[in-house]
Amino acid sequence: SRYTAIIPAAGIGRRMQSDIPKQYLTIAGKTLLEHCVNVFLCHPLIDHVVVVVHPNDAEAARLLSKDVHVITGGAQRADSVLAGVQYAQETLRSEWVLVHDAARPGINMALIDNLIATVKGTEGGILALPAVDTVKGASRKTQCATDDSDAVPTTIDKTLNRETIWLAQTPQMFKTAALQQALEYALSKKLQITDEASAMELMGVEVCLVEGTAENFKVTKPADLALAGFYISQKNN
Ligand code: C5P
Repeated sequence: SRYTAIIPAAGIGRRMQSDIPKQYLTIAGKTLLEHCVNVFLCHPLIDHVVVVVHPNDAEAARLLSKDVHVITGGAQRADSVLAGVQYAQETLRSEWVLVHDAARPGINMALIDNLIATVKGTEGGILALPAVDTVKGASRKTQCATDDSDAVPTTIDKTLNRETIWLAQTPQMFKTAALQQALEYALSKKLQITDEASAMELMGVEVCLVEGTAENFKVTKPADLALAGFYISQKNN
């Protein structure tokens, strides 16, 4: 097959302050994960959807269908993605994979079309948004806001050049075999990678940036759910 979507959904969603992992929060009667699966399933160029879930996940089996495969993931996001990539390589024999966060239910057909059309003649590429805010580098890890007035505030190390900043989204599209090799390398070296492109960059691959949209944002905080609901209602109109 040519194009397989991989949806890592094995996270436990600590930042949502919810007992339910964020991929299982619902909007308009469907989980964020189902919204994502449906978009890829309906796309004419996507042959298979591989959903990567937590080993204790009892609900995921419901998603299974002819073109939807459910497998178990690992401790880190990269472990989960690698499990999906191995499945795409060994079982589905897919040439390309498009890795998409379950927490981005605002993905749509046009964005997938654009990504595939732009990236298929290259080594790989991702959806991303040019930064609109001025971006500050901090000298140490960002602290969470607290009520503790004694807390030392985080300070600016330097201001980055906004013209050169893009915020990575998903899907991230790469040749299956190349991504498998890159993820295995990064994991074996215990390198911190938070997306697929970073693993490919470490291998010296040129990764294309394809402009995404605000609707494709990642649901992370409790307040994000209402915004995602608004975007989904717009999409279905
Ligand atoms: O935590 P973060 O927002 O980066 O998670 C992005 C996606 O990766 C989510 O869909 C989450 O379920 C998934 N994930 C995973 N396996 C992990 C950790 C996160 O599939 N071990």
